[in-house]
Amino acid sequence: MQNPIFPPDFLWGVSTSAFQIEGATSEGGRGPSIWDTFTATEGKIARGEQANVAADHYHRYPEDIALMAKLGVGAYRMSVAWPRIQPEGNGAPNPEGLGFYDKLIDAVCEAGIAPAVTLYHWDTPQAVEDEGGWLSRATAERFAEYAQILGDRFADRVKLWIPLNEPMVMSIFGYGIGEYAPGKVLLLDAIPTAHHQNLAHGLAVQALRAAGATNIGTANNHSPIWPADDDAQDAAEYLDALLNRLYADPMLVGTYPEQLHQHLPAGFADDLSTIAQPLDFYGINYYEPQGVAMPGPGNPLPFELRDIEGYPMTSNGSPIVPHALRELLLGFHHRYREQLPPIQITENGCSFADEVAEDGGVHDPERIDFLHSHLVALREAMDAGVDVRGYFCWSLMDNFEWSKGYAPRFGLVHVDYETLRRTPKDSFHWYRKLVRNE
Ligand code: NOJ
Repeated sequence: MQNPIFPPDFLWGVSTSAFQIEGATSEGGRGPSIWDTFTATEGKIARGEQANVAADHYHRYPEDIALMAKLGVGAYRMSVAWPRIQPEGNGAPNPEGLGFYDKLIDAVCEAGIAPAVTLYHWDTPQAVEDEGGWLSRATAERFAEYAQILGDRFADRVKLWIPLNEPMVMSIFGYGIGEYAPGKVLLLDAIPTAHHQNLAHGLAVQALRAAGATNIGTANNHSPIWPADDDAQDAAEYLDALLNRLYADPMLVGTYPEQLHQHLPAGFADDLSTIAQPLDFYGINYYEPQGVAMPGPGNPLPFELRDIEGYPMTSNGSPIVPHALRELLLGFHHRYREQLPPIQITENGCSFADEVAEDGGVHDPERIDFLHSHLVALREAMDAGVDVRGYFCWSLMDNFEWSKGYAPRFGLVHVDYETLRRTPKDSFHWYRKLVRNE
């Protein structure tokens, strides 16, 4: 299996997020987050699993950084837990929280790895949610204060900055259908949460730059939308607006798709210039395309989701469609043209039910195939003119996959949740050779 060749300065990385790996949810002065509340609510998480320990990265980060150093990646994308920094969601920062990330970021730098920091990966302080969360415009202003705290403290060491991870997933899963925290079912009335997160993005970019941070981008989740039949064009355009353009358009060109104007908060247009801050890179998280059909009778929405059929699936129910990554990148390239900054793939990966075999290894040929085929598609997009500068595999290690608990394993490193032992999978060794160009 021949790997595609990437430019010598192409940035290879791995991604994680705080709530999914850290554990230690009541240590270091951390306040409660919406995910602590949600995981403690019966029926929300598969098998009632909790993330109080998760992969115990809070205590085991030196071991995890040593694994990354062995892997040879150039960058590590991690997130800071807002409730560790501002346990009540506002006011002076908690010194222990800042101290933890000081140690972590220093250790990443000492390993010769560039820290890529996401400010927010869905763990809103519960106190912020109690005052409206992303339904409230004030949350965007609070977020800007938090961004300033992180900028002031870490701008000297962090090499890439990402204000918010996947605001679409927070809006749709968190406020639209309630599968994720905070568990609200508002359907299209969740759209204001998209605007407030977009505004938080713009304000955070300003605050970070004012603090001297450089290399600021995004980590937006995007999917090509595939109409199920010829009649589904309008539904596909609507869903593309809702899942993709609601975030990319305001950030890149300072507009919103017209279909969605009626759902946005009054006065939204006044915020567009704040949202459309110049970015140093546009980070894309890609997992799968999304099928869509016209709505059936009684469906209050202007579309109906359809599964994509005819492709192999991950254990998490995602169809494996590498060429849709090429389609997505070319679509962005043609739609946004010179307004699109260089791209980083800030997440891409897959889950399988990986186990430690009798020989002590973890054999995950499906993950190697997945990564290889997506990198081929990525390289093809680059050959066709798309400016992609880096690729971050999701994830360094197995972790807490939100409402699905620990069953979907996304890591290059296997985590035994009983013993917390880490075992590099075959895909780890494969990725190591790729990134070291061996
Ligand atoms: C995207 C999210 O950012 C991450 O938290 C999640 O674990 C992966 N997708 C896999 O579903």
